[in-house]
Amino acid sequence: MHSDQIVRTFTEYFEERGHRRITGSTLLPPPGDPVLFTTSGMHPLTPYLEGRPHPLGRRLVNVQRCLRTTDLDEVGDRTHLTVFEMLGSWSLGDYEGPSSLDWGFGLLTEGFGIDPGLLHATVFGGDDRTGPDTSSLELWQERGVPVELTVEDNWWSNGPTGPCGPDSEIFLWTGDTPPESTPTGDDRWVEVWNHVMMRHRRLDDGSLVPLPQRNVDTGLGLERLASLLQGRTSVFECDVFDPWRRRVPPLWQLDEPSLRLVCDHLRSAVVVIGDGVRPANTGRGYVLRRLVRRVLTVLRRDDPRRGLGDLPDELIRHTLDRFRQDVGQDVVRGVLLDEERRFGRLLERGRRILARPRFHGPLGEDDLHYLHDTHGLPRELVLSLRPE
Ligand code: ALA
Repeated sequence: MHSDQIVRTFTEYFEERGHRRITGSTLLPPPGDPVLFTTSGMHPLTPYLEGRPHPLGRRLVNVQRCLRTTDLDEVGDRTHLTVFEMLGSWSLGDYEGPSSLDWGFGLLTEGFGIDPGLLHATVFGGDDRTGPDTSSLELWQERGVPVELTVEDNWWSNGPTGPCGPDSEIFLWTGDTPPESTPTGDDRWVEVWNHVMMRHRRLDDGSLVPLPQRNVDTGLGLERLASLLQGRTSVFECDVFDPWRRRVPPLWQLDEPSLRLVCDHLRSAVVVIGDGVRPANTGRGYVLRRLVRRVLTVLRRDDPRRGLGDLPDELIRHTLDRFRQDVGQDVVRGVLLDEERRFGRLLERGRRILARPRFHGPLGEDDLHYLHDTHGLPRELVLSLRPE
């Protein structure tokens, strides 16, 4: 099933059940929001989860682009991307968790044709503040889906404060053998869909108070589901990455982990630039800078002549179209090349400074601080020039 068809199947399924489709926001949260980027589909809906009436009612569905820097070091494994699309459904104080899980089970098994015998659920087992989520547990028992109870893994919040609650996650078995063990015991169980019973708010002092309404917030990673439905072993092999896998390997020969990192980070950088961010030393601009510089470090490790000038237009265009971004590809290319030049100058300077006798031996923490504070050379850059 092509990713566009997955999006259509998901949204139509919820529309048939009274949900209104809302347009996803950009990656940039509104001014005053404490997080740098939108990390989950619920994020732009926070005021409505907290009780403000939504103009389109109490049942919503959408596709939201998200960026997670917490996953940056996991990029390259089978399931993590920096920028991804999240399919989401919401009950804003309308139906309860079991209805959402039941629809989730129906969509996965009937809509997407997944064998119910390959599913496993996890449910919040309760802690000293909140009791176990027995209604989710009962729903899964009625549907014959095995359940694992956990505590931390089944509590979801978007940040240290704000709306949060117990969740129930649905996992799909990806092994070659019949399913075995449980989601926490075997990573061949891959999480596909999270349903959060969002009915608490965490305050600054860590305490929980009830939200004015009992919501359900669900999120399903599009690329992850696409790769599983398409029988691929990683998110990088689903159809969304087809042009990348076709165009990048002939251009730059890279081992598989480096290829994944380069594709992920470049695609993410295009989307971030498409949403108006420019490289900088702080905040969002710094995230963009890190993405581009990590790509350049990997590319030049094997061949210093490699550069972003060779990046095919098709990949920029395909990404901007995929994320419905109305920005010229030349603008994106200009930002990337500008950053590449700046990085090139910094590397030059770094090499000159590191050639000084003082830095000939192994570098200690003091050296790294000095190089950063006095010469503006980030630790990551110094270590890439002196990998020992
Ligand atoms: N907000 C929940 C998540 O991102 C659904 O997992």
